[in-house]
Amino acid sequence: MQLNDPDLFRQAALINGDWISRDDMPVINPATAAPMGHMPDCTADETTAAIAAAEEAIVAWKAKTHLERADLLMAWYDLMLEHADDLAMILTCEQGKPLAEAKGEILYGASFVRWFAEEGRRINGHIIPSPVAGKKIFAMKEPVGVCAIITPWNFPNAMITRKVAPGLAAGCTMVIKPSDFTPYSALALGVLAERAGIPKGVLNILTGRPEVIGATLTASPMVRKLSFTGSTRVGALLAEQCAPTLKKMSLELGGNAPFIVFDDADLDAAVEGAMASKFRNGGQTCVCANRILVQSGIYDAFVAALAARVDALKVAAGTEEGAMIGPMINAAALDKINAHVADAMSKGATKATAERELAAGFADPVVLVGATIEMRLASEETFGPVAPIFKFETEEEALAIANGTPFGLAAYFYTTDMARAFRVGEALQAGLVGLNTGAVSHAEAPFGGVKSSGLGREGAQEGIEEYLETKALHFGGI
Ligand code: SIN
Repeated sequence: MQLNDPDLFRQAALINGDWISRDDMPVINPATAAPMGHMPDCTADETTAAIAAAEEAIVAWKAKTHLERADLLMAWYDLMLEHADDLAMILTCEQGKPLAEAKGEILYGASFVRWFAEEGRRINGHIIPSPVAGKKIFAMKEPVGVCAIITPWNFPNAMITRKVAPGLAAGCTMVIKPSDFTPYSALALGVLAERAGIPKGVLNILTGRPEVIGATLTASPMVRKLSFTGSTRVGALLAEQCAPTLKKMSLELGGNAPFIVFDDADLDAAVEGAMASKFRNGGQTCVCANRILVQSGIYDAFVAALAARVDALKVAAGTEEGAMIGPMINAAALDKINAHVADAMSKGATKATAERELAAGFADPVVLVGATIEMRLASEETFGPVAPIFKFETEEEALAIANGTPFGLAAYFYTTDMARAFRVGEALQAGLVGLNTGAVSHAEAPFGGVKSSGLGREGAQEGIEEYLETKALHFGGI
């Protein structure tokens, strides 16, 4: 891994401004299956020390003005842009996504820091007229306190900034636990936070296995909020663990996004949107189209156009020139993808895409026609480059299939009929709906799900509220 600034590659945890270096666990480059480095497996005592450091640091951090915190966040943002190439290289080597896409993630991640630096200056309370003469009620916003942040491997940079930036802007301090598959992007952000002047203890980063660190974070009464992105199973477990200390929680969990193409859709736009939504990060996002529902009149044309685009995808190591789909994160992920394809084919699906030879660790990007709701890929998130196409006849039928899952993160649909646009937009049970677009992720827009896809919203104005409490201050004797 060639970096312009090798100091950004840290194989150490960050606790109260100290870098704790140990080679307890390897971190594997998914493109080569070889270790790219090591990291400490932080203990319960180290987790407790990080929480204590965050608790101590919050006193001075929340006493800073909103403008002072915004300036520090903007300094952090500037450093992210300055070092975007190195951050992208670290990200590609630990996560696998193509370098150009990794650079896109760095810019996406940085956009949350800028947005919340700006938004943090507009944390306003309000004054409420009292029902009693001579009194006034002030509703004041205060930081929640020490926050635990647990992030996934699929966006090792942006899922951290989307949680940490609003928290820091609000005056909270952080204990971050990045995925043990992808710790180095988080640690590089820690280096840049130090350089930006964010004081020690405000941002702590623990590496290692999730069980001990997660259990210590959730059990601690000092931790007042937990924000997690990951599976619904683990989200529910964390909610259980947080219950005795009643923490505020944000949970961004699994999805099973429908992508509906109506007969009246613009075909080219729908294919473009499906490519963007389905194949971003090799299909490894919570908002990726998981079920592509196509109305019978446009079905054949859509399948032919999509299959031609998928056949043209270059599958290669993320550092290779022109790579479009990198390796999958690990063998378990690959096994699940292959099992979904095998199950679908055993139940009658066929491939509309050409066969290709692939190196170990890579998944075959496929379009599967003849998908039905009996197949595993209809009810489970595949998290890979598999595009199953379901045929439908009516709008009612499409909505019944689309909404017929416990999940409700993203949903997409393509139509040129304005009445249908409103009808379907309202009827889809999802926190994010893309109408004639396959992209629903921006710092400015609220991100989050309904039903089993989670609680709370990230990004947007809503994102900072998740890190705030409202205090009612009653003034008498006026
Ligand atoms: C995710 O997959 O969890 C996040 C995707 C995004 O931010 O677009």
